Amino acid sequence: MLTRLQLFPEQASTLAPQTDALFLFLLGITAFFVVLIAGSINVFMVYYRRRDPHAIPPPIHGSLALEILWSVIPFILVMIVFFWGARLYATIARPPDDAINIDVVGKQWMWKIQHMEGRREINELHIPVGKPVKLTMTSEDVIHAFFVPAFRTKQDVVPGRYTTSWFEATKAGTYHLFCAEYCGTIHSGMIGRVIVMEPAAFQAWLQSGEAGALPALTPVAAGQALFQAQGCSSCHAAGSGQRGPMLAGLFGSTVRFEDGGSTVVDETYLRESIVRPQAHLVAGYQAIMPTYQGLLSEENIMQLIAYIKSLTPEGGKTP
Ligand code: CUA
Repeated sequence: MLTRLQLFPEQASTLAPQTDALFLFLLGITAFFVVLIAGSINVFMVYYRRRDPHAIPPPIHGSLALEILWSVIPFILVMIVFFWGARLYATIARPPDDAINIDVVGKQWMWKIQHMEGRREINELHIPVGKPVKLTMTSEDVIHAFFVPAFRTKQDVVPGRYTTSWFEATKAGTYHLFCAEYCGTIHSGMIGRVIVMEPAAFQAWLQSGEAGALPALTPVAAGQALFQAQGCSSCHAAGSGQRGPMLAGLFGSTVRFEDGGSTVVDETYLRESIVRPQAHLVAGYQAIMPTYQGLLSEENIMQLIAYIKSLTPEGGKTP
């Protein structure tokens, strides 16, 4: 069961000890200088107090050695913090290539989770222990933030774009999940649980549906059905007269735009192309695609993207 909320939550991911080490280093340096500076002030206050109302202190002309010392030591310390922090940030910002992808949609006031194997859940996230997990997240309304204190990961979840977060759980158990961005009346109630399971138990959980439910459609299958139902195939499928770019092999490739720019195709670009097709028109195509803004939910868009990714071998790793 969930333990009572602690000031310093237990460490349950590979990132947690690294984050804590940097935090404690900063805390240690801060405490050291607080004691040194406040202590010095108090000692000097007493030691150099004015003993005689007519006393004139001797003039001080500065000390080059002292000035260099108190410039160089802080410089070295902040450089250590900078490089340490930058390295940790780079680790957090770049999910490992073999991470399991899970889609997350935040809305007032719940977390909706979609596993690639089909299983869906609300306000609960089941993951296996010892496997890196990457979350692809967006919001249906306002900004939320996906915060798991035991993993030391917190990431804003922003409408209109995808953000990612990743972690590798090191201990089976149940952990707090919070929304960490004020998002309206029930913000404080937008909480859930992350359930870390042994890999075998996790596989069994993935296969088991909710009691009595039909086998869940995978996002790829759901996306394929949408692709037909929304008429995407009339322009984007092989033999459709190629009025739109072909989608096989598209994910992770570089596309050129009419205006001369280019981009590597990732989830964010695919989402934009569905919602605002004219924003970055691929060179050689007419601006004939209608917008699907308002016609598709964020989950639908994620399903379409899952389908488009599945058309690229290797599962379309995010570049
Ligand atoms: Cu969602 Cu605060």
